[in-house]
Amino acid sequence: MVEIAVMGYGVVGTGVIEVLAKHSDGLTRRAHEQMHVKYVLVRRDFPEPPLMGTFTKSFEQIVNDAEVKIVVEVMGGLHPAYDYVRRCLLAGKSVVTSNKELVAAKGADLLQIAKDHNVNFLFEASVGGGIPIIRPMSQCLAANVVIGVAGILNGTTNYILTKMFRNGADFKDALAEAQRLGYAERDPTADIEGLDACRKICILASLAYGKHVYPEQVHTEGITKITKADVEYAEKWGGVVKLIGEVKRVESGKVQIIVCPMLVDRESQLSNVDDVFNGIMVRGDITGDVVFYGKGAGKMPTASAVVADVIDCVKHLKARKYLYWSDGSPDYVEDYREAVRAFYIRAHAVNCDNAFEKAAELFPGASRLTRKNAPAGEFAFTTGKMPEKECDRKLQQLVSSSVTVDGRIRIGEM
Ligand code: HSE
Repeated sequence: MVEIAVMGYGVVGTGVIEVLAKHSDGLTRRAHEQMHVKYVLVRRDFPEPPLMGTFTKSFEQIVNDAEVKIVVEVMGGLHPAYDYVRRCLLAGKSVVTSNKELVAAKGADLLQIAKDHNVNFLFEASVGGGIPIIRPMSQCLAANVVIGVAGILNGTTNYILTKMFRNGADFKDALAEAQRLGYAERDPTADIEGLDACRKICILASLAYGKHVYPEQVHTEGITKITKADVEYAEKWGGVVKLIGEVKRVESGKVQIIVCPMLVDRESQLSNVDDVFNGIMVRGDITGDVVFYGKGAGKMPTASAVVADVIDCVKHLKARKYLYWSDGSPDYVEDYREAVRAFYIRAHAVNCDNAFEKAAELFPGASRLTRKNAPAGEFAFTTGKMPEKECDRKLQQLVSSSVTVDGRIRIGEM
């Protein structure tokens, strides 16, 4: 019998307890040991607590109980989760977490402590909810040099964008629905401003290249500025708008990493990743493109990944799994304005034809887009590829010839 503690009893915590109870026989068979939840750490009072006798408000009781071998952290947030996880690892307990904020900020540190104390620190659920991605990247694709990773990593924003494209839905209504379904973060700003996707691409980048990339090093833009006009122009162009997290290694040895809305061609597999689903494309030098697809948020998909990690910990109580990356450094991330891409621009001017003529002079390969019922004075176009800083410079020149730029979206290549 292996004793487990679960810290947190929110959406994911209740899911974990349910899966452990529901699939108890199968899990025992797979882990070759019975698992027993000895404690559930909660912050509030439960008048009639389920799981009689397991609820505690005392972290000290958990960390000081030598019988507890595996601790599941599903509290979310950085504090007190970081301190608790750290102390559990130092006390020789393996830890499983779904907490992407924690792994993105402190992954290297916690992996080092786990290594030093010969225990496991596993976090499959921190990226892509129920989609297996951490283990496939660290084990199944280990023979490859990763050329790049690009993905739709946030279920809430993908749900919102899908509703905007499919039903012309209002942003606020779609967000409220995503919250009701339990997809969104406690503070949905982290979803819609791209921070959640940023944390996830940081974890994948750290894993892919063996060195920590911290969220504050990543240029991050959310989806709040995407309009109905952009949706219509994107459709005319032959694609959709998706919130993409992307990383690749460049020749200098640095990484190029960004989170932002991108125009994705209908031909791309990522363009069909809709609703709460996530899709992650890993480009290996040997495999070529491998795509991972599934439910990226929600109670049960996330619980599925957490429980799988618990089983892995049970099977490796005395043998460490090799999952590790080193600390990052301030100069490791290239300036995002160096990246070479094509862009979509939406603007307005008194005379659109003249303004587009000027744009075409400035932007080689400019191609005009149209949409039904565009208001007078509005025009849009796509550019040829250029470094982002050059695009910014040319946009300034365009603005100085009496054009107002209302929107710019990067065009993805995945
Ligand atoms: N809020 C997150 C999402 C939950 O919508 O993807 C899963 O990390």
